[in-house]
Amino acid sequence: MIDVGAAKRAAAEQAAELVQDGQRVGLGTGSTVEFLLPALAARGLTTIRCVATSPQTERQARELGLHVEPFDALDRLDVAIDGADQVAPDGWLVKGGGGAHLREKVVAQAAAHFVVIVDESKVVDALTPPVPLELRPYGLQATLHLVGELGKVVLRDAPTSPDGGLIADLHADVADPAALAARLDELAGVSAHGLFAPAPRQDVVVGR
Ligand code: A5P
Repeated sequence: MIDVGAAKRAAAEQAAELVQDGQRVGLGTGSTVEFLLPALAARGLTTIRCVATSPQTERQARELGLHVEPFDALDRLDVAIDGADQVAPDGWLVKGGGGAHLREKVVAQAAAHFVVIVDESKVVDALTPPVPLELRPYGLQATLHLVGELGKVVLRDAPTSPDGGLIADLHADVADPAALAARLDELAGVSAHGLFAPAPRQDVVVGR
């Protein structure tokens, strides 16, 4: 049986070594990122500038002495490092198990290099549902109706996101993630979905 914690830590520590002083760094969210932050802080890089994808990450990063800025001044990031719920062979990801996928997607898309850190249980042959969603409160019932045409959608009993969105899970066919992502992207009431297309420069670090 794999030691999931040790595997997450191994991936996180390997990814922390990729960061260079002076870089603008996006910090993801989740239990794997919780291992990344101390590993990054231990590098003692004095001029990195970080942005965080969640209040939890921001709090932990600051406590460890990392320099975290609001993500309103930086227009690009050199690297973003984040966990994932599933990693497919073609590089498509499912993210959002923790409901932070909107900010995670903003940060990932802003980064020149996206590094995904996972334990080996996250590496799958094909993506499976559910796909996490973040939904706008405005017109919620209408959005649920439209999303419901794609599959069964279940609102999570969870706090709203820092951007005021409601978190839900869509149980739909994800055999063609590009097609499903395109359908979801058409819906204005969906602020973000957890299907992440392969980034132009994406590396997956698998802890074993
Ligand atoms: C947060 O919303 C998610 O996208 C996480 O990055 C993802 O669920 C991976 O989380 P763990 O590192 O806790 O497995």
